[in-house]
Amino acid sequence: MSGFTITPDNPWLAPLAGYSDLPFRLLAKRYGCAVRCSEMVSAKGMAFKNSGTRRLIATCPEDDPMILQLFGSEPQFFGPVMEKLVSMGYRNFDLNAGCPVRKVLKSGSGVQLMQDLDKLVEIAAIMVEKAAAHPEGGRVGVKFRLGFEKGEEVFLDLARRLEGAGVDWLTLHPRYGKQMFAGKANWEKLAELKRAVSLPVIGSGDLYTAEDGVRCLEETGVDAIMFARGALFDPSIFARFIALRRGEPMVPRDGAFLAGIVREHIRLTREFEGDGRSFRKIRSIIPRYAKGLKGIRALRASLLQCTDWEALEAAASVIAGLEPADPSDEEPAVDVICE
Ligand SMILES: Cc1cc2nc3c(=O)[nH]c(=O)nc-3n(C[C@H](O)[C@H](O)[C@H](O)COP(=O)(O)O)c2cc1C
Repeated sequence: MSGFTITPDNPWLAPLAGYSDLPFRLLAKRYGCAVRCSEMVSAKGMAFKNSGTRRLIATCPEDDPMILQLFGSEPQFFGPVMEKLVSMGYRNFDLNAGCPVRKVLKSGSGVQLMQDLDKLVEIAAIMVEKAAAHPEGGRVGVKFRLGFEKGEEVFLDLARRLEGAGVDWLTLHPRYGKQMFAGKANWEKLAELKRAVSLPVIGSGDLYTAEDGVRCLEETGVDAIMFARGALFDPSIFARFIALRRGEPMVPRDGAFLAGIVREHIRLTREFEGDGRSFRKIRSIIPRYAKGLKGIRALRASLLQCTDWEALEAAASVIAGLEPADPSDEEPAVDVICE
């Protein structure tokens, strides 16, 4: 695993539970994504060798540089798990202190950690210490929100403490935990964070298009941006962002282009996972890429009939011939369940 440079022209793929798996990270890389985060992995689950974690940490040389995101609330699990991961060659890590879903909060993890900054910083410090054992020097970031809930805005205090603990970068999704995904991400808080610390700051939150990414950089001065839901709907968002930054034209998002994305995602899924579970997953993801085209309902129905990879590829190839939808009659392509 190699290092990476944090600059505005190097867009990141956010950690996305259920989605930022190895095939999707490789897909994002094809389209210019510079740094890619894994799905969140339970430190406790890893400590107990939970069978599901093997799939979550799967990587390959082409996946480099990837960042492995851990979540948990019990500091004692992080030391041994980090030692194991570093011995396996993992070099870049992130601590999840932003996830607001009930299951994660119940274990005291995710954004719940923002109510116990001592523990949060203790875990981050353990990760920093253990990552340093990587022969080329490991790196650790922390991803957090503004605070657990409105009135508990601790992100600046936390950021300064993490800087003191030797963390390498900070990622802020500027909403409160209790807010989940409601309202708007407050980008002014990204600018505040950037002014408050000398560490690199990665901006996350409401970056749905390449234009949002460029605007966020310009308005907030953050060091880099991270696409999340924007990448789920359009993995080529990274290339669009880079083109926009360079003042170059963007490739049109027509049926033929989108069919190419789908073909590549199916190919990568087959190559790196290829089992029944990944088949069902990619089958449900494909209609999302056709957002903005006519006939998604029929496409979804025909995909659901498919029971093998060849049939799936054939059914998905129809996307190449789909016409743009009338914006007024466009049906939502998918519900994305969050964090
Ligand atoms: C489906 C989904 C899964 C997510 N999983 C994680 C996760 O595992 N770890 C994490 O730190 N954030 C996770 N997030 C939060 C995103 O990384 C990102 O911060 C958030 O979606 C805001 O960015 P956006 O508005 O551009 O989507 C997830 C978000 C979504 C939508």
